[in-house]
Amino acid sequence: MATTTEKTPAAPGVVATESNQAVPAISLEKVSKTYRSGQVTTTAVESIDLEIRQGEFFSLLGPSGCGKTTTMRMIAGFEEPTSGVVRLSGKDVTGVPPNRRDVNMVFQSYALFPHMTVAENVAFGLKRKKVPAAEIRTRVAEMLELVELGDRAKYKPRQLSGGQQQRVALARALVNRPSALLLDEPLGALDLKLRQAMQLELKRIQREVGITFVYVTHDQSEALTMSDRIAVMNKGRIEQLGTPAQIYETPATRFVAGFIGTSNILTGTAQRVSDTLVRIDYGGDQHVLANTPQQMSDSGLVITVRPEKIRLGKDVPDANVSRIRGTVREVVYLGATTHYTVRTVDDTDIVVFQQNSSDASNLADHGDTVWLSWRPEHSYVLPG
Ligand SMILES: Nc1ncnc2c1ncn2[C@@H]1O[C@H](COP(=O)(O)OP(=O)(O)OP(=O)(O)O)[C@@H](O)[C@H]1O
Ligand SMILES: [Mg+2]
Repeated sequence: MATTTEKTPAAPGVVATESNQAVPAISLEKVSKTYRSGQVTTTAVESIDLEIRQGEFFSLLGPSGCGKTTTMRMIAGFEEPTSGVVRLSGKDVTGVPPNRRDVNMVFQSYALFPHMTVAENVAFGLKRKKVPAAEIRTRVAEMLELVELGDRAKYKPRQLSGGQQQRVALARALVNRPSALLLDEPLGALDLKLRQAMQLELKRIQREVGITFVYVTHDQSEALTMSDRIAVMNKGRIEQLGTPAQIYETPATRFVAGFIGTSNILTGTAQRVSDTLVRIDYGGDQHVLANTPQQMSDSGLVITVRPEKIRLGKDVPDANVSRIRGTVREVVYLGATTHYTVRTVDDTDIVVFQQNSSDASNLADHGDTVWLSWRPEHSYVLPG
């Protein structure tokens, strides 16, 4: 797809901003959804603002019950928001039924028609739309090539593996040429190996067809692998929206820090050491150093540090790095890395990942007293 950096002159009275140069594929404005059954009301989604760009691979990530499926169903038109507006390519789609929206949804249980062949399954939607038979044949063949099932056209679903069935479901949705495809935990039923292979496959297919994918998962590594951007959801709200690197490196909240990857969390009251550095003292030569945050709060700082940034050793580290002492509680050898859990004197567990390079294997055993150290820039101060 061609992109241009040239700015087209805006219409009089219209301010040229990034968002009105390209209309978002999907946008949600203050969208909420409340379910009522009898006396009980559940707020599944609460005032979500979201813009998904054309051609983007966008993921909604969050724990079970946080509102991911509800959000997708409102985009697809299976639910109407209690309040707020959903737009597809800039158009308000309130009241527009699912079959008149230019999006297709692939569900977790992808329910192929068991009595139909692969090709008939893929052709189903086009037949209903009365597309001419010759065109159906060409489009179905193209789609089966795309998902690499050209040689399985005459099979029945039960003769296919889980991953192959999933690809038929994908072909069945893509053959309609929607401008966006909504995928709700489409790989949930597959085992880990197959899921990882399908993740790469889905990325390839998305690149080739160039349409917007909105992907729902509660698996953070899946979201990090596949997405251009991720919205991390918690209890019906978006806690952070950003690229995988932004979300991993600079989590906006404690929830995001804990949900994405493994985070060690340390708290305490910090003192200024210099213009650029603050320190939390833990006594006995132990301290955590961090770059001075934009806002210092009197109530203390919450610092996260990723396990791969920490070094583990027997010698006392220099005073110009963070250094914490503890006892090794757990050693898990994983081939390329070893994961250590170290309990500090105030009973906090800190997880450390060490590469097993030739000079750094078996750094400590269960019960050993060790020092943990990391550079100030790896102490990430959570905002707020
Ligand atoms: N039709 C409904 N009636 C009442 N409550 C509902 C309905 N659908 C969903 N909910 C509630 O709304 C909340 C969000 O549900 P949703 O299915 O969107 O979560 P999710 O993030 O997709 O979870 P999961 O990862 O388990 O699929 C849950 O508390 C759920 O019980
Ligand atoms: Mg769901």
